[in-house]
Amino acid sequence: MILNETSYFGAGCREAIATEAARRGFKKAFFVTDKDLIRFHVADKVIEVFEKAGIPYEIYNDVKANPTIANVQHGVTAFKASGADFIVALGGGSSIDTAKGIGIVVNNPDFADVRSLEGVANTRHKAVPTFALPTTAGTAAEVTINYVIIDEAATKKMVCVDPNDIPSVAIVDPELMYSMPKGLTAATGMDALTHAIESYITPGAWVMSDMFELKAIEMIAKHLKAAVDNGSDPVAREAMSQAQYIAGMGFSNVGLGIVHSMAHPLGAHYDTPHGVANALLLPYVMEYNAESPAAPKYMDIAKAMGVDTTDMSEAEGVKAAVEAVRKLSLSIGIPQKLHEIGVKEGDLHQLAIDAFNDVCTGGNPRPTSVEEIEALYHKAF
Ligand SMILES: NC(=O)c1ccc[n+]([C@@H]2O[C@H](COP(=O)([O-])OP(=O)(O)OC[C@H]3O[C@@H](n4cnc5c(N)ncnc54)[C@H](O)[C@@H]3O)[C@@H](O)[C@H]2O)c1
Ligand SMILES: [Fe+2]
Repeated sequence: MILNETSYFGAGCREAIATEAARRGFKKAFFVTDKDLIRFHVADKVIEVFEKAGIPYEIYNDVKANPTIANVQHGVTAFKASGADFIVALGGGSSIDTAKGIGIVVNNPDFADVRSLEGVANTRHKAVPTFALPTTAGTAAEVTINYVIIDEAATKKMVCVDPNDIPSVAIVDPELMYSMPKGLTAATGMDALTHAIESYITPGAWVMSDMFELKAIEMIAKHLKAAVDNGSDPVAREAMSQAQYIAGMGFSNVGLGIVHSMAHPLGAHYDTPHGVANALLLPYVMEYNAESPAAPKYMDIAKAMGVDTTDMSEAEGVKAAVEAVRKLSLSIGIPQKLHEIGVKEGDLHQLAIDAFNDVCTGGNPRPTSVEEIEALYHKAF
C-alpha cells in the first residue's frame, strides 16, 4: 500500500500547512491552483494561512480543467524561477495532477517532454515535496499515485502511474469544497463512486481495498445527494470529503476499469468534465461487467447503496446494484446519454480504440475488445 506520509481531515485543517512546513523546514511555497479557485476566493483561504505563518509563496495558476502538457511544462519553468522548495497544490484533480507533473519533472529532468511519463514511468527521484488540498470531493488525487495529463497533439489523455508522485501531505478540509456549484458536486461525487465501484470489482482487489471501497460506497450513497441539494450542509460536505479520500486509498493501490478507460477519451476529444463522463458511463459498464467473476460482489454494492438484499439471488443483486447507481445519478441531475453532452456518433469507433489502449483497461474484471467497447459507447449514445 502506498499512502501519504501524513494526512489531515476536517473543517479548518488547512492550518496544518503552517505546522507541516515548519516541521519539515520548508522556506517557500510554489502554490499551484487555477483561475476559478482564485475567482471563487477558495485560494484566499490558503493564502491567509501563508500570510499568518509568514510563509513566502509564488502563485502558479496556468492550469486548465483537464490539464495539458504545456500546463506542466510552463509550471516547471515557473517553479525553477521561483526559488521555492515545496509545492502546495489546491484544487480539483486538474490542479493537483498538474502539480504532480511539475514536481516529477523538476526532480527527474530526463522526462521534461512529459509524454514519456505515460503509463508506468521509471523515474528515479521523488517529486518535489507536495502538500495537496482537494477542493472537489471526487478524484482523490491528493492520495493517489496517478495523474492525468492531456497530450493535445495526440488528442489523448495520458494516465501516468508513479509512486514517486504521491503528495507527502494531504490536507482534506471540507470548507474548501463549500463553493462547488451543484453540477460540479454531483459530477465529482459520482467520480468518487466510480472509483469505489471499479476498484471493488477489479481482479486485484483484496481485503483491505474492499474495506475502503465498501465504506466509500456507503458514505457516498448516504451523503452525495444532500451535498448537491445543500452545498453548505457541513455533515454532507465533510462525509463526501472523507469518502472520496477513502475510495482513493483503495483504487490507487489496486486499479480501476473501463469506465475510466472510456471516460478519458471523452475528456481528450470534447473536454467533457471527468466526473460527468464517468457518471454517465458507469451503469452501462456495470451491466457489462456483471458477466465476469465479479458478479457476486454486486450484491455487496447494492447493500452498501442502501438496498435491502435479503433473499436476493446473484442476478437480482446485480440488477439492484445497477438500479441503485442509476437512481442516484438521476436524482442529482447527471445526463444519461452521450448525445446529450455533445459526443458525435461518427467518433465512437476512434473513441473505442483510444479507450481500449488506456492504462485502466488492464484492471477491468471482464476481458474486453475494441468492438465490445464500441458497442458500449453506442448503447450509451
Ligand atoms: N489523479 C488521479 O488519481 C485522478 C483521478 C480521477 C480523475 N483525475 C483527473 O482530474 C481531473 C478532474 O478533476 P476534478 O473533477 O476534481 O475537477 P477540476 O480540477 O477539473 O475542476 C473543474 C472546475 O471546477 C472548479 N472548482 C474546483 N473546486 C471548486 C470549488 N471548491 N469551488 C468552485 N469551483 C471549483 C475548477 O476551478 C475548475 O474550473 C481530470 O483531468 C481527471 O482526469 C485524476
Ligand atoms: Fe476518476
